[in-house]
Amino acid sequence: MEDKKKVIFSGIQPSGDLTLGNYLGAIKNWIKLQDQYDCFFCVVDLHAITVKQVPADLRRRTLEVLAIYIASGIDCDKNTLFIQSHVPAHSEASWLLTCSTYMGELSRMTQFKDKSQKMGDSISAGLLNYPTLMAADILLYNTNLVPVGKDQKQHLELARDLAQRFNNAYSPTFVVPEPYIADTGAKIMDLQEPTKKMSKSSDNPNSFILIMDSPEVIRKKISRAVTDSIGVVNYTNDQPGVKNLIDIICAIKGCAPEDVVKSYQGKGYADFKKDVAEIIIEELTPVQAKVKELLGNKNYLEDIYKKGAEKASYVALKTLRKMQKKIGLIPR
Ligand code: AMP
Ligand code: TRP
Repeated sequence: MEDKKKVIFSGIQPSGDLTLGNYLGAIKNWIKLQDQYDCFFCVVDLHAITVKQVPADLRRRTLEVLAIYIASGIDCDKNTLFIQSHVPAHSEASWLLTCSTYMGELSRMTQFKDKSQKMGDSISAGLLNYPTLMAADILLYNTNLVPVGKDQKQHLELARDLAQRFNNAYSPTFVVPEPYIADTGAKIMDLQEPTKKMSKSSDNPNSFILIMDSPEVIRKKISRAVTDSIGVVNYTNDQPGVKNLIDIICAIKGCAPEDVVKSYQGKGYADFKKDVAEIIIEELTPVQAKVKELLGNKNYLEDIYKKGAEKASYVALKTLRKMQKKIGLIPR
């Protein structure tokens, strides 16, 4: 009998245009894993609406994220690509898990604390419950491994706790998922404040590179990236801006930081930055061309997300039915 492949689940929110951080921290790692695992890659639109979205933008970005997955090299025949809201089991399982999630666990989440500080009283209950929905996403598919950037580690720990809590309260139901945080690209930093992670929700467009940024824009943003007055290309925490640019090169080229440092001995930041920009442009140009082509063929994308939702629903519903039964809900 053929060995059953282990399962991977991951997703990105269509809450803003995707950045180089999403690409290097998430998507590029997924591509490396897709042959060894049975993968579910989701566009998590229900997570995106935890903050206010303009409906037309949300629709456009949801399709664009799907197109970026495919254009970056995710094989849509081998993997299941789908849109979260197309599989209602996610919302249903999320409610069941909400009832065994503690307020304390949710309010202690770093991401929630950061956002609630910024938003004050107008923060939605959705943002508080966000990690429970993420746990539902993961647990419904008997997921073994969740490839994410470092910032998601805490959310994943909650998914593990909720799985164990349910298994202990009833009987073994969920696989307890493991995080997979790759060494390269785990945290790409903000170009203007290199001690913060690069985020699509930043107000300053110079702080991030978008996957769809044109070569001119990429050159401009990299040339403006904050460095330091030391003037030597070194890989140290004292030079977070330069370190980040080295990390970007390494995540794209698969090389070691020492090699980059060696090749810039005796050279200044201007030469270094020029090369960084060209390396990014070379990586993103083919992806951008493919994204544009895919977005021009909406029927093809529709075909993929419909098939994906069907495959995902089949697995998710089986798990949801088990949960409902164990909790004591009467099957209809
Ligand atoms: P989000 O943009 O919050 O939906 O994140 C989607 C995925 O991209 C998650 O796995 C994040 O951990 C990852 N990610 C987002 N920003 C970065 C970043 N600056 N560096 C590395 N990974 C990131
Ligand atoms: N919360 C994740 C993020 O912002 C996105 C996400 C939602 C996710 N559900 C998931 C990631 C399930 C991995 C697995 O990055």
